[in-house]
Amino acid sequence: MIVEDNGCGMSKEAQANLFKPFYTTKTRGTGLGLMITLKMVTLMKGNMEINSIKDKGTSVTILIPEGTRNA
Ligand SMILES: Nc1ncnc2c1ncn2[C@@H]1O[C@H](COP(=O)(O)OP(=O)(O)O)[C@@H](O)[C@H]1O
Ligand SMILES: [Mg+2]
Repeated sequence: MIVEDNGCGMSKEAQANLFKPFYTTKTRGTGLGLMITLKMVTLMKGNMEINSIKDKGTSVTILIPEGTRNA
């Protein structure tokens, strides 16, 4: 799955810190969104990659392997 936006993009510093808990550039952000997302993707043995260009936008790629039905 790929989600892209044409928003503000991220500085190199923001890109280096985005998965750190409580890292936020928002005045009222929590800095937990991406950390929790990465945790969930990792628990599903998936992978998450973020590419961002300052003032251009951001692209988030999430890959999750197919599971087996155990019902
Ligand atoms: N789509 C995006 N475009 C630009 N910056 C982003 C985007 N998603 C995340 N960021 C940057 O990463 C930081 C951490 O994001 P997140 O973990 O979701 O916490 P929060 O949204 O509470 O700040 C944001 O504060 C912002 O600087
Ligand atoms: Mg967020």
